[in-house]
Amino acid sequence: FKVPVVDNEPMMNYAVGSPERRNLEATLRQMEQELPFEVPCVVNGKEIKTGRLAKQVMPSDHARHLCTYHEADEATVADAIEGALAAKGEWEALPWNDRAAIFLRAAELVGGKYRYRLMAATMLGQGKNAWQAEIDAAAELSDFFRFGVKYVEELYAQQPPKNAPGSWNRVEYRALEGFVLAVSPFNFTAIGGNLPGAPALVGNVVVWKPSPAATYSNYLVYQILAEAGVPPGVIQFVPGPPPEVVAQAIGHPNFAALHFTGSTFVFKKLWKDIAANLDKYKTYPRIVGETGGKNFHIIHKSAEIRNAVLQTVRGGFEYQGQKCSALSRLYVSSSTWNGGFKDQFLTETAKIKVGPVQDFTHFMGPVIGRPAYDRIMGYIEKAKAAGGEILVGGSGDDSKGFFIQPTVILTKDPRSVTMTEEIFGPVITVYIYDDTDFEKTLELIDNTSAYALTGSIFATDRKALLTATNKLRNAAGNVYYNEKCTGAVVGQQPFGGARASGTNDKAGSINIFTRFVSARSIKENF
Ligand code: SER
Repeated sequence: FKVPVVDNEPMMNYAVGSPERRNLEATLRQMEQELPFEVPCVVNGKEIKTGRLAKQVMPSDHARHLCTYHEADEATVADAIEGALAAKGEWEALPWNDRAAIFLRAAELVGGKYRYRLMAATMLGQGKNAWQAEIDAAAELSDFFRFGVKYVEELYAQQPPKNAPGSWNRVEYRALEGFVLAVSPFNFTAIGGNLPGAPALVGNVVVWKPSPAATYSNYLVYQILAEAGVPPGVIQFVPGPPPEVVAQAIGHPNFAALHFTGSTFVFKKLWKDIAANLDKYKTYPRIVGETGGKNFHIIHKSAEIRNAVLQTVRGGFEYQGQKCSALSRLYVSSSTWNGGFKDQFLTETAKIKVGPVQDFTHFMGPVIGRPAYDRIMGYIEKAKAAGGEILVGGSGDDSKGFFIQPTVILTKDPRSVTMTEEIFGPVITVYIYDDTDFEKTLELIDNTSAYALTGSIFATDRKALLTATNKLRNAAGNVYYNEKCTGAVVGQQPFGGARASGTNDKAGSINIFTRFVSARSIKENF
């Protein structure tokens, strides 16, 4: 048999008065009346209420919280690991078509029964506006599951092209020996689904620690997977304090892989912890991580200005700049800057409305929490102190929620701190280069960031596109021509970068699945 043809989840437009708009608004209202929700750990399919309570604060109103969750304690994590190992045999022995069917069903539940609830949880808890929530919690999440099935089918079909006469060679793609630890971020509900989902699809068992700032939406994702038929024990939901849960899992002899999205700092620390435990393990662990960026747009003098402006605004400010792919450093040729780009860019940025996302006219919502707010405002201050000129924004208001105005900083120093360090907020720093310095600027882009996740080149001159693509060979894992540097679509642009941005195993592609299988070659003579 073959799995059914898969396609991207169709997106809805949420126009005023549309059925989807009414449904989403009703779900938001209902959720706001019912909150705070209570979220347990789930181990072996059983809810565990440890009594160690923590809150997921609503970033648009820090006096309220979306959920109270039970943090996993040592005994819960130990049970999660042992239970996962016990569930492993049956799960990996399940015929592939059954595992595939479970994930195809999960995709249907995401796009159907759970759509508005997942979106509302992502809006209230993580501060995404409706359209950003649709891209993430409805489309990308179900795409990960559907295309995952397609990619795994392709992986399993990869067989040796040759058999000597009288023999048959075949390769089995088995699950890893041990369990996978998934540590997921706040900024994409979809990544919350993919980090445990991808390893589980190829037969692994997973201990999943979601981000504290995305606990409720991620709990819904867990419920979807369970309802779709992922058996108890296969994915263990253990929210909790990162150092404890993670250290316990990494210290276990059956630790077989880390599937991580988050900061470079934490990823490097976990890698070192894994190295320190290496002698304990049965097998060399697989380490897969996606860890941020310092993403760029370069605008060539031949660029079509209106498109470059609109793409730049979206790339930098959608979801408050909290995508790992978000635009952060902007290089504009002087003739383009003075020839209309500057005026249009500043006008469009100043038009952006910031506020709670339950009001659909707010293009930007809050940033995720107190530490993020302080960090981003701190970067704006540092830029000012270093002589950066604030062209728009620059202010924030944390009296009720964590709101920061979209901010554009002009710098004369392409090595200044906001041109080189990841900010993860709605701040674009602009550097104007002389038209004749295009190639020099490409070198500058390549040399001034430790990261290499995404980047866009805006030019109508084909030669400029080619020059930039060649010069920036290692500067980004995802490159766009004349489009913003965010918004990779599963099944269309495999996503990930190298350098300090991660192991570049490309989420939303066949590559990621190869990291979570351990192949066995069998030769049979007749
Ligand atoms: N896929 C997202 C983007 O490209 C990030 O996870 O923006």
